[in-house]
Amino acid sequence: MDPSSAAVRDPRDVLLLGEGNFSFAAALCQAGGGSPRVTATCYQAEEAVLQQEGAEENIQLLREHGAEVHFAVDSTRLGECPALAGQLFDHIIFNFPHCGRKAGVKRNRSLLAKFFLSCAQVLKDSGEVHVTLCNGQGGTPADQPMREWHNSWQAVAMAAEAGFILSEIRPFDGAKYHGYRSTGYRSQDKTFHAEGALTHVFTRSLPCAPPESVQAEARLARGSVGFEVPEELSHSFGRYWSRERAGGPSWPPTPTLRGVSAPRFRK
Ligand SMILES: C[S@@+](CC[C@H](N)C(=O)[O-])C[C@H]1O[C@@H](n2cnc3c(N)ncnc32)[C@H](O)[C@@H]1O
Repeated sequence: MDPSSAAVRDPRDVLLLGEGNFSFAAALCQAGGGSPRVTATCYQAEEAVLQQEGAEENIQLLREHGAEVHFAVDSTRLGECPALAGQLFDHIIFNFPHCGRKAGVKRNRSLLAKFFLSCAQVLKDSGEVHVTLCNGQGGTPADQPMREWHNSWQAVAMAAEAGFILSEIRPFDGAKYHGYRSTGYRSQDKTFHAEGALTHVFTRSLPCAPPESVQAEARLARGSVGFEVPEELSHSFGRYWSRERAGGPSWPPTPTLRGVSAPRFRK
């Protein structure tokens, strides 16, 4: 078995971002499956977080379970965060990212885009980014009903900018996390409508391999022309030449496909 895929299914190092009252992190730690090393963080300063109901108890519980807790961690600047310096994670989890009550789709899209760019700096190569969004925000057909693209957070496009691809979408069931109570932005203790929420799992896209090319040659009335063709397309060119030999058109237009170099004429 590929050891990197095992690490992802049974993550050792989990980073939680944008926790509200730390109830999700506490639930994850208590569930204990695989005993991951949990680093739980929130955006606010400690004093602000401690005003949230249950936050102090959750933080204490996290520390008793050996988790690290950090405050004032900006999910868009993870590479610069001193508390995370030198660490790489198997899973990065951000539940219900949101810029604030009045923020529209554009600001939230921008938060996602910067968050993904920043994740790329602290995620292991085989790692996963889990982003849970309210129904409709993600902008995929998994949302029921699916929102118009321009009105969604365009999660897949925001992730793509940082080289991540959507690998899986799962329904998010908050009730599975014992004691989890979602919170609104800042110290608004108010919970929000999370029915139909979806967890979007992103992984790094594979680097594009440069196209292999094969050398090709075609005969013309006044000599021959040699050029390179991507290996994947070589059989199509072969078909073309068969037609040519059978009395079809004498020469294809100059190939414009990427990876095909300009024709070289031989005398
Ligand atoms: C709707 S609340 C969700 C809170 C919590 N994750 C939960 O599930 O209850 C949105 C959270 O995103 C956080 N947030 C907004 N901008 C952030 C940023 N740049 N970095 C980290 N967290 C951020 C807010 O502080 C807030 O806690």
